Amino acid sequence: MTPDVRPLVAGNWKMNGTRQSLGEIKAMAEGIDGPLAEHVDALICPPATLLYVATALCTDSQLMVGAQDCHHEVQGAHTGDISAEMIADCFGTHVILGHSERRTDHRETDQMVQSKVEAAHAAGLTAIICIGETGDERDSYETLDVLMRQMSHSIPDGAMADNTVIAYEPLWAIGTGLTPTPVDVAVVHAFIRAELVQRFGAEGKVMRILYGGSVKPSNALSLMSVDNVDGALIGGASLKASDFLAIYSVYEGLVA
Ligand code: PGA
Repeated sequence: MTPDVRPLVAGNWKMNGTRQSLGEIKAMAEGIDGPLAEHVDALICPPATLLYVATALCTDSQLMVGAQDCHHEVQGAHTGDISAEMIADCFGTHVILGHSERRTDHRETDQMVQSKVEAAHAAGLTAIICIGETGDERDSYETLDVLMRQMSHSIPDGAMADNTVIAYEPLWAIGTGLTPTPVDVAVVHAFIRAELVQRFGAEGKVMRILYGGSVKPSNALSLMSVDNVDGALIGGASLKASDFLAIYSVYEGLVA
C-alpha cells in the first residue's frame, strides 16, 4: 500500500461473459456496498457488449464499471472499434489500456497505447495502463528496462493521479497460477513509484500502481500488503463474485 492512496480492486473479464453472467455483477455490486467501500474502490470491466447494462445494474452501488480497450479517435471509419466517448456515454468510468493480450493479439505498441490513454483522458475516463515483462525478459534480467521503456512511451505527459492508474502485470504470471514473490513485487513497484515521482512529481507519489497476474483469494493478502501495491487487476478470479469479493475483503485487515 502507499500512504494516502485509496486502493482499487479491479476485475477484467476479458472475452468472457454474456447476459447470463450479469448476476455476478449484481452480486459484486451488492457485496462491495459495506463500510469497506469508504476506503477501497472496486471496478469491474466486462466485455463491451455488457457495458451499458452493467452500469445500469450498478447505479445504486459504489461498484464502478469500465471497459477493456478503446480506439484513439473519437469516431469514424474503424469497424469493430469503440471510442472512449462511447464508453463514457455508457457511464463507464475507466478503461484498461495496453493489456499484454492487446499488445500481443493486436500488435499494440507503446505509442498506440499512449494515444489511447490521451483519448481516454479527453473523454473523462481513468486509464489503467498495463505494463509487464515476458518470462524471457525476466530470465535475462531485463524487467526494469522493459518497464521503463513501456512507462516512458505509454504514459502521456500531463497524466494525473486521478485519471491514470498503472497496472504491473508480468506476462508469465497472467492466467498461469504463478506469481512473483512479495519481495520481487516490492522491488518492481518501488522502481515504478520512483519513475512516476521522477516524471510526475507529487502526482507520481499518489498515482495508483496495481499488481495483476494470478491474483486469487488465497494470495491476495500477501500481495496487497506489499509497499506501493495499491490494489489488484484480476482476470480469472474476477469472473465469480465470491472470489472477487473475497479479494476485495482482504483490505478489511489493511485499511483503518
Ligand atoms: P489473471 O489475469 O488474474 O487471470 O492472471 C490478470 C490480467 O490479465 O489482468
